[in-house]
Amino acid sequence: MTELTYHAQIFPGTRQELIDRISQQLRPKRFQHVLRVEQTALELAEPNYVDLERASIAGLVHDYAKQRPDADFIAAIKDYQLNPELLHYGNAIWHGVVGAELIKRELHIYDEDILNAVRHHTTGAVYMTPLEQVVYMADYIEPARDFPGVDEARAITTKDLGAGVAFQAQHTLQYLIANGLPVYPKSLETYNAWVPRYHHQ
Ligand SMILES: [Fe+2]
Ligand SMILES: [Fe+2]
Repeated sequence: MTELTYHAQIFPGTRQELIDRISQQLRPKRFQHVLRVEQTALELAEPNYVDLERASIAGLVHDYAKQRPDADFIAAIKDYQLNPELLHYGNAIWHGVVGAELIKRELHIYDEDILNAVRHHTTGAVYMTPLEQVVYMADYIEPARDFPGVDEARAITTKDLGAGVAFQAQHTLQYLIANGLPVYPKSLETYNAWVPRYHHQ
């Protein structure tokens, strides 16, 4: 278990203080997931030249807002004048896109790379920085994840982070469609930006 000491003043406090803030927001099961995502993000960060402090913070905060009531998100969408289209979606989308705004205001983390990693962690995005890719993949393959294909996802991601992004984008879309679930347009954009590219290499 890697325990970083924070130096860069990205979060105004220690790693332990950040962890305490997050544990107040999440039930134990979700909190344990968050700790595993942080560790997986750190493992992916190193070979991909991603800043370890950012990987730690982004991993820790990515689900910060996951257990907030819908009313908090709806108020935030209105108060912060976010895209009103967001009102048609639910927690799955809100905890990333709107969650980033809550992280900014409540945790005083203003690093846009970290905030975008949170915003994009469920849907992916057309353009994703290495940090965003690391968090997107860490959430998908952390050690407790168990779905058909997870070992393949881990192997691909270890070899080539971008190929992992393409794998997740394809499989998530397949899952949504196979189960008759709504596809957020951003997930489709992510698919188009990443999947054909990696299949025709
Ligand atoms: Fe999440
Ligand atoms: Fe997560």
